[in-house]
Amino acid sequence: MWKTYCNERITLIEEALSHWIPAQEGLLKFLFESMRYSLFAGGKRLRPVLLMAAADAVGGEGRRYLRVACALEMIHTYSLIHDDLPAMDNDDYRRGKLTNHKVFGEGMAILAGDGLLTAAFEQMLLQEEVDAACLTQVVREIAAAAGPAGMVGGQAVDLAASGQAQPLNQEELRFMHRAKTGALFRAALRGGGLLAGATQEQLAALTVYAEEFGLAFQITDDILDVTGDEATIGKPVGSDERNEKETYVSLYSLDGARRMAEESVQRALTAIEIFGAEADVLRSLASYLVSREK
Ligand code: IPE
Ligand code: IPE
Ligand code: MG
Ligand code: MG
Ligand code: MG
Repeated sequence: MWKTYCNERITLIEEALSHWIPAQEGLLKFLFESMRYSLFAGGKRLRPVLLMAAADAVGGEGRRYLRVACALEMIHTYSLIHDDLPAMDNDDYRRGKLTNHKVFGEGMAILAGDGLLTAAFEQMLLQEEVDAACLTQVVREIAAAAGPAGMVGGQAVDLAASGQAQPLNQEELRFMHRAKTGALFRAALRGGGLLAGATQEQLAALTVYAEEFGLAFQITDDILDVTGDEATIGKPVGSDERNEKETYVSLYSLDGARRMAEESVQRALTAIEIFGAEADVLRSLASYLVSREK
């Protein structure tokens, strides 16, 4: 049931993305090809689906917020294009295909990322059916989550710590995960809640769920970097070790990391006990999280 829900939302998201970032002819052909190459390489679309599911959980209609939802996917895709660059993780595969810079060159990959990030903000401001004050708050939260206090900040900590003699301690690693990965999930869930008029209590529940979800998600990403099947995850296994990164696996061992991810999922599930069946998709997604293979 939840898979049908997700597949229906993913279809909406992909049609909208294709419309808003269309193929072009002429001088901009190559740039748009590069943005579309990564946008349509087969991402799981988790962040936009979560935004819609959060809106549905508080009694709203998530599919109405397609522009904000797609903006999250555009920001996420930009972050991956830049994350794979030689100056960062230097990875050759993403979503089962060659990374953006391997196909389009580093300069165009940087610009494709820049293009997706800025186009995302344009899309958010075009969101209809939302009161201006509410949209302002949502856009502000997404900006903060993507920026130096969020994803970019976490990536900077990650970059600075890679290969250093002084490894990150447990608290620093947690901070980094919350920032580089957790912040966008938090903005997705809170964004969906805010857009659909969540009460303070509902918003607080979604926030706890999001924080635990985000942490469990990145812990699982760290685990898959060690145990994953390259063909299934669509990106190189062993990237973290090659880049001498601290991860939940390097700090807590595989079993420890698995346990911590499961504990986070349990806390996420507890947080949303206040909701009824409207939140079943959120429940299923949290459980899927730790068993995922990609
Ligand atoms: C990968 O995110 C990067 C992290 C933040 C861990 P996803 O696993 O959601 O990547 P896609 O979008 O499905 O490719
Ligand atoms: C990066 O984390 C998360 C981002 C904000 C892009 P990773 O570097 O572990 O992500 P993957 O494993 O390359 O997807
Ligand atoms: Mg990285
Ligand atoms: Mg990476
Ligand atoms: Mg990783």
